[in-house]
Amino acid sequence: MTIGVAVIGAGMAGRAHAAAYRAATSLYDSNLPPVRLVSIGDVMPQFGQQAADRFGYERTDSDWRRIADDPNIHAVSVVVANHLHREIVEGLLAAGKHVLCEKPLSDTLDDARAMVAAADNAKSVARIGLTFLRNPAIAAIQKIISSGQLGEVLHFSGNYWADYSSDPMSPMAWRYKGGPGTGALADVGSHISYVAEFITGKPFASVSGARFVTSIKERPVATGAVQGHSGATVSDKMEAVENDDYAGFIADFGGVAGAIEVSRVAAGHPTSLEFEVYCEKGAARFTQARNGEFQLVLNEDPYGQRGFRTIQVGPSHPYIAGGLPVDAPGVNVGQNDQFFFQNRAFLQEVAGLPETDALPFCPDFRDGLHNMEVIEAVIQSGKAHGANVAVPASTPSYLKAGK
Ligand SMILES: NC(=O)c1ccc[n+]([C@@H]2O[C@H](COP(=O)([O-])OP(=O)(O)OC[C@H]3O[C@@H](n4cnc5c(N)ncnc54)[C@H](O)[C@@H]3O)[C@@H](O)[C@H]2O)c1
Repeated sequence: MTIGVAVIGAGMAGRAHAAAYRAATSLYDSNLPPVRLVSIGDVMPQFGQQAADRFGYERTDSDWRRIADDPNIHAVSVVVANHLHREIVEGLLAAGKHVLCEKPLSDTLDDARAMVAAADNAKSVARIGLTFLRNPAIAAIQKIISSGQLGEVLHFSGNYWADYSSDPMSPMAWRYKGGPGTGALADVGSHISYVAEFITGKPFASVSGARFVTSIKERPVATGAVQGHSGATVSDKMEAVENDDYAGFIADFGGVAGAIEVSRVAAGHPTSLEFEVYCEKGAARFTQARNGEFQLVLNEDPYGQRGFRTIQVGPSHPYIAGGLPVDAPGVNVGQNDQFFFQNRAFLQEVAGLPETDALPFCPDFRDGLHNMEVIEAVIQSGKAHGANVAVPASTPSYLKAGK
């Protein structure tokens, strides 16, 4: 068996998926079937060709339907703007492809629900990429907390600070379209939301105090295609920014209190998911700016010596041992590695290999819908001047025992 793969969308995250499929067979055991890198799909042929050349894919397709129709392609990542996910995912599932869709699952709850129904009706694997679950330091903190070493979780504080929209002359793009909540909250707040649940071990019960701010109210229209957060030449024409540069809200994880703030105009933070979690017997904290380490304080230490200690991730933590070529302490990891682990896990499931403790399978579309229901509750709280809004009850797969 050979697994033929394709990536639809050759932008910032699409390139990470393209690289991850290329690296997949070099991680962990050599039990994965050969992976054939078939196509990178992009409506802009030059972007698709550049990515195909760079990552060693056989061809590019400007219409995703050619990928859906190709019997040599079995597994496909969908890595385009959120509002385009549904049509492509439904078409791929109908064609029998295994699908790994980027977060957030879509841009509307109706579309996300339709995608869950399509996944339920499909015989193939449908998964969502919640990449930060694959961060070794984050997963290490989760294991420490779920082992009970820190006792009950008391409260959680999380941020995702990014500065990709700080320049008022960076061009209008799909990320700035849609109402409050479809901006920084959907883009980076989606990540810190599932991380908050993963770390506290509890799903959101409700949110309140939501606030959205659009700091830069209009942006210049680009003269060419825009990808990721990179600059492009711009025209004199300005267009209104429709969504949030900043979002903040209070969280209730069923008795565990929390607060979350996210921004895409946070100068000095190119991209930094960070959190602190306080527990009965100590605390832990993480910042993406120092991806290869986390900090821990244990109340059992003598009072005068108590303080956060820094722990470098290594083979005694998730994802490193047997996963990376150099699986020694201190070798460090980055966001690209998260995609490597994620896409390897997806291909293992596609290949019918068993799920392992070292490499849990990817979350499913119901988890993606739940993530969007959290975002929707924050949006509703914002509309109701910060009122408390319940999140529909759900236990995401990443909170289930053994995950
Ligand atoms: N997991 C993560 O860490 C992470 C990071 C960044 C982005 N994302 C997600 O990845 C998705 C894409 O984001 P991005 O930043 O890579 O976007 P991007 O704007 O950089 O790239 C999107 C690409 O899609 C192409 N495209 C547009 N319409 C298309 C179509 N119909 N068919 C094929 N290609 C099409 C564009 O030409 C562009 O090259 C989003 O859902 C985003 O939320 C996830």
